[in-house]
Amino acid sequence: MEERAINIIQNNWRNGFTIPTSKLYPFQWLWDSGFVALGNGIHNLPQAIEEINKMFSGQWANGMLPHILFHSELEKTYFPNYDFWNSNVNPGAPLYPKSSGITQPPVFGFVLKSLHDIHRNSEELKGFIKDIFPKVKAYHKFLYSYRDHKKEGLFYIYHPWESGRDNSPIWDESMNRIVIDKQSLPAYTRRDTQLMNAAERPTTDQYDRYVYLLELGKRYKYDGKEIAEQSPFLVQDCMMNAILIKSNDSLIQIGKEYGFDTKEIEEWQAQSKGSFNDKFWNDNLQSFVSYDCRSEEQIEHKEIGGFISMFGECATKSQAKSMADYLNQLHDKGYYLCPSFDVDSPLFDSKRYWRGPIWPQMNWMIASGLQAYGFDHIASIVKSDLLELVEKLGFYEYFESNKHTVQKINKGYGGDNFSWTASTVLSFLNSDL
Ligand code: GLC
Repeated sequence: MEERAINIIQNNWRNGFTIPTSKLYPFQWLWDSGFVALGNGIHNLPQAIEEINKMFSGQWANGMLPHILFHSELEKTYFPNYDFWNSNVNPGAPLYPKSSGITQPPVFGFVLKSLHDIHRNSEELKGFIKDIFPKVKAYHKFLYSYRDHKKEGLFYIYHPWESGRDNSPIWDESMNRIVIDKQSLPAYTRRDTQLMNAAERPTTDQYDRYVYLLELGKRYKYDGKEIAEQSPFLVQDCMMNAILIKSNDSLIQIGKEYGFDTKEIEEWQAQSKGSFNDKFWNDNLQSFVSYDCRSEEQIEHKEIGGFISMFGECATKSQAKSMADYLNQLHDKGYYLCPSFDVDSPLFDSKRYWRGPIWPQMNWMIASGLQAYGFDHIASIVKSDLLELVEKLGFYEYFESNKHTVQKINKGYGGDNFSWTASTVLSFLNSDL
């Protein structure tokens, strides 16, 4: 398995970065890249360093890291392409590489910490960390200064694609509230449904709203404070904020070792940690949920993002226990862990993007979080379930969670030979989980 995983990453390696999978995703994606560096960096540190450097070559002057870097302008098979984003409406966006105008989960802090723990004595890594640390910090500063409009220590997103859980049912209500005048949308042709089974992809109505929000961002140059005022979709995502907290923590630890001033990060962190539990814990669901800043309500669905709170160590011991108990129950009911959405909800869809299937890198964060709270048994199931699925169904992008259904199928869902699946396998095989 390890050999196959390494081969997949090498085959997906382009000039300095790893594509998630050929055809469907021909560029560099932010959190994919972080997870690839995490797993690939175990045996191939130089490549992981190159990958991260390549990502930061696309950092904007305001500190933002874009969710896609379009390293090749000749590759026209993806929509929305760099010319549709037109991110140079923002004067701080680099001319090269071209990029999208939104971001994705801030994973690089914890990725650096993990590489640092594995390669303690590497001089190459030490030099790299000295150079990259201020850039990662600048990215966090962007989130706190441009995206935390209420100064709560919790940043917002204005496009579901930023969350990485692109079409999770948690966004449905907030998205459906958006009234769209179809005439006002630019003409566009989707590529994803030409390449993949439409039943696994978002619907046309959903896609129109994605384009609408993209256009709104563009109108305000992708960083204006008008976005917080004007966007009909404005959400504080519990998963992204937990990841930020995890990455802050990593930066504080690394920073202290390397003699960087970590005071500002510690101030952000204290505020974020203080607000996280108040804003996101939902007693009825016994889980963390995201918050809709427009309706000023919690988004009441049990979903995978809530469990990442354990990875950020933002849950109390008893909150973590509730979540661990729930995962134990799902396991006993005949599910592989961890389905991305509430299996008992009518909105659950075991095949469709983020509406039910299992996602490899999520398992890694959840297993690590469970382990941090001492729930080692269920953590090891989260690990072995993913490895078993990959063994049975291949290195796909995401997987079926129902054990009966898995017996009847012979492959996973979405793209094949997927980089974050390969790198998560490497992370798991080399972990003490
Ligand atoms: C999809 C996923 C997103 C991922 C991207 C590339 O858009 O929803 O999380 O980063 O594909 O793999």
